[in-house]
Amino acid sequence: MSEVKVALLGFGTIGYGVYTNITNEQNTIQNVVKQTVKITGALIRDPHKERSIAKDILLTTDFHELLAKEKPDVVIEAMGGIEPTLTYIKDALNAGCHVISANKDLIARHGKDIEEIAKANNVFFAYEASVGGGIPLIRTIKELLQFNHIEQIEAILNGTSNFILSYMRSEKASFEDALEIAKAKGYAEPDPTNDVEGYDPFYKAMVLSNLMYGAQPHWEDVFVEGISKVKTDELLLAETLGFRLKQFVSINDALQVSVGLHFVDNTHPLYGVEGVDNAIRFKAKTLGFLTLQGPGAGANATSSAIIEDLVSFYTKEKVVPEVPKQTRVPENAERPTSTY
Ligand code: NAP
Ligand code: HSE
Repeated sequence: MSEVKVALLGFGTIGYGVYTNITNEQNTIQNVVKQTVKITGALIRDPHKERSIAKDILLTTDFHELLAKEKPDVVIEAMGGIEPTLTYIKDALNAGCHVISANKDLIARHGKDIEEIAKANNVFFAYEASVGGGIPLIRTIKELLQFNHIEQIEAILNGTSNFILSYMRSEKASFEDALEIAKAKGYAEPDPTNDVEGYDPFYKAMVLSNLMYGAQPHWEDVFVEGISKVKTDELLLAETLGFRLKQFVSINDALQVSVGLHFVDNTHPLYGVEGVDNAIRFKAKTLGFLTLQGPGAGANATSSAIIEDLVSFYTKEKVVPEVPKQTRVPENAERPTSTY
């Protein structure tokens, strides 16, 4: 059986999660892609950290060694930051590797350029994990809502913030205690400022804006509100009045984007989205409303999205099957009689 070689950039919460899930689910992945998937190595920053990883896997602080020693077919970027990450992604694409990234900050800024480089090299670039954690959100927009014009979305896109707001209310906990738990669970970024000040969902909104409308608003025109000043007492008082505080990302087809806090009652469709869950509610022209909800952060949810991207590279022709010609209804066919 042939082999797909995968190199990891980063071996932290997400890199380790990908390694563990690929290792534990090797048979399932093999059945789907009809090849074995081998992790060849991982790029790290600190060579002295204790790591739980098989002895034959290269751990290196040298990106070029990772690419040269056993050339990977796929590079998975889970290290974060803008540089040197962008350079590594470009180098990997130019070397003929498919690339998967979970890095919304970088894709919000450079996603279009990276996609051009991937196209020029005839390789895939995928980033499902960058928005909405494990929810197949990017694929829904790219592949399942092509004919439907998306008029607007309302979404919860930061797992850490949604977890903190839920936890402060349900456990009567302080913001600081809730944040510590979100960090321990691997939901928050190493520096959680972007999570709690609204910039993480802002970057995700910019990724979605590009994807849905091919453009972004001027960043300085976007209202961004984080949760760092929210007090437990406010959440508890709101609860007694029947309201919950939620942070919503709103985007519409006039490129109006905001990230803001809203008190909503139980008639709001996203009122019940709790804990680390994210959710996105599309208003699509022909379809109407569609809501997707699922785990928005953490090692398993994020690895799930990354591994789905990986698998899709090797099953691509099956993702959007062509409708076989003979199943199309001829234009002059009689309508079938309804049995209802
Ligand atoms: P993390 O735990 O801090 O892991 C980052 C890893 O990258 C570490 O192994 C670190 O090395 C390595 N690294 C960082 N800078 C490096 C550099 N300059 N050279 C070499 N290695 C470097 O972070 P994480 O939570 O896994 O997040 C990684 C990425 O996934 C971020 O872009 C984040 O936004 C995204 N993401 C995270 C989640 C989540 O739930 N956590 C969900 C979706 C997307 P050391 O181990 O040596 O420090
Ligand atoms: N820190 C991010 C969050 C990770 O909490 O939503 C998922 O992108």
